[in-house]
Amino acid sequence: MLKKVKKILLKKNKTPLVCLTSYSKAFSRIIDKYCDIILVGDSLAHVLYGMKSTKNMTLEMMIKHTQSVKLGVKKSLLIVDMPKNSYKNKKVALKNARQILQKTGCDGVKLESNLKNYNIINHLTKAGITVMGHIGYTPQFKQKFKVSGNTSNEKNKLIKDAMNIEKAGAFSIVLECIKASVAKEITKKLKISTIGIGSSVSCDGQILVTDDLLGLSGFYPKFLKKYANLNKVIEKGIQKYKNDVQKRKFPQRKNSY
Ligand code: KIV
Repeated sequence: MLKKVKKILLKKNKTPLVCLTSYSKAFSRIIDKYCDIILVGDSLAHVLYGMKSTKNMTLEMMIKHTQSVKLGVKKSLLIVDMPKNSYKNKKVALKNARQILQKTGCDGVKLESNLKNYNIINHLTKAGITVMGHIGYTPQFKQKFKVSGNTSNEKNKLIKDAMNIEKAGAFSIVLECIKASVAKEITKKLKISTIGIGSSVSCDGQILVTDDLLGLSGFYPKFLKKYANLNKVIEKGIQKYKNDVQKRKFPQRKNSY
């Protein structure tokens, strides 16, 4: 087991894990010192590429962005989303996970649960690959957004899903938009860390899409707290630049050769 993963597991029931997404060096070099885990999430499909779904992300795109992110990471555990179709079966998953690790130098991969890919997670972890699971709202396998855990049937399914992922050897699981009481129960039952997004303060850690919390993406769901308004900051800067250019105030002598 990686030293960084051990450190993360030791924080269970002690210090909440701070996790964020990054898609480039520009962000990872800033957030690295504050994070336990940086995730190159396939949410980059929406955030950077304006795609309607994460389902069309390719392995090559994930690798390219991770290579950039890695340049800014010194201490955080770096995890990469495996895109849909890159882990269709055990053989394909292992080949692709190895490719991601070798080409990017990241620490591990994340797979979304489809309630049956436990054998794939197990195959990867047995091969020594660090795996993070993902349950609840799993955009690669769902058509529509929904909070889960509202019925006892859903609750039991989620608990079973989480326990199967733990048994398969994952070191942590993202709980996305799961009813608070169910997220709490899952977190209590598991030895590995739960990382919540829209799943309450009871999880062992929290993750958000960095562009969302900085007010850059324009996506502000109920579970988000906006910690900055970068859209405004950027716009103000650009307005000043436009003004300076049009009034010939920029470039000045000191900006010229
Ligand atoms: O793709 C992503 O960014 C994610 C997080 C929202 C957990 O999976």
